[in-house]
Amino acid sequence: MSNNLLKGKRGIIFGALNKESIAWKVAEQCHEQGAEFVLTNAPIAMRMGEINELAEKTGSKIIPADATSMEDLENLFKGAVEELGGPLDFVLHSIGMSVNVRKGKHYTELNYDWLEKGWDVSAVSFHKVMQTAWNLDAMNEWGSILALTYMAAQRTFPDYNDMADNKAYLESIARSFGYHWGVKKKVRVNTISQSPTMTTAGSGVKGFDGFIAYAEKMSPLGNATADECASYCVMMFSDLTKKVTMQNLFHDGGFSNVGVSDMVMDEFMK
Ligand code: NAI
Repeated sequence: MSNNLLKGKRGIIFGALNKESIAWKVAEQCHEQGAEFVLTNAPIAMRMGEINELAEKTGSKIIPADATSMEDLENLFKGAVEELGGPLDFVLHSIGMSVNVRKGKHYTELNYDWLEKGWDVSAVSFHKVMQTAWNLDAMNEWGSILALTYMAAQRTFPDYNDMADNKAYLESIARSFGYHWGVKKKVRVNTISQSPTMTTAGSGVKGFDGFIAYAEKMSPLGNATADECASYCVMMFSDLTKKVTMQNLFHDGGFSNVGVSDMVMDEFMK
């Protein structure tokens, strides 16, 4: 169903890798709501080719960019403004990767070269994206910039490993840069803290199935799906949320405020 909530809005969507990706669902829903946007991902992810299908479906151009490369980002933002015919109204940062998680390194034995790589990709890239847009004056007034995060930034989930620290850093960047964007251009910057979701990045976390089942039983409304996350992103890009900024917004069916649920207790009372 479309209410044209994003009619006339232009944006960039990072991170659609395949149909499971949260960014994929965001792109579909932004298109349904009348937005025009450029899709981007790391050149290496492009090789898998699935993003072409999304580009066709949403009538979007793809501009590859490694989100850790200032050169790539400059090329992307310049290209997007040119392609879309003016400055942008929204940006989605939907990027995450930890080499330590991928290679199964325990948190107490981290490889620091890998840590730096994951931190750059998962957290610092958000600063790089915003600094590029800032330098090129590529955002319209009342624009909206979003990144996706996870609650391991606030509470410990042992297998989330160094991604927990990356997410804490990412959320801090949203607050710090959000201040400057607000003052300069009335642009809002927020993070959405999403339920565990079965995607390529998600399923890289050890024991992810159990993690999802536990969160489902802990959340009064159940886990939020990728599609539901996309709807929240659409709302955050729309003019209905113009004064929401510098926030970490939980989209988790209530999980973050539950101590214990009856369903989880039942497992221990058997
Ligand atoms: P995904 O694997 O579909 O998306 C991750 C994306 O990051 C991929 O498209 C990948 O190509 C991109 N990426 C990696 N390195 C990059 C680089 N150097 N430059 C540009 N892009 C790069 O997985 P998902 O789950 O859709 O992840 C999107 C975001 O949502 C991530 O920030 C993730 O941490 C976050 N999130 C995911 C949750 C989950 O359970 N799946 C829960 C909460 C947050």
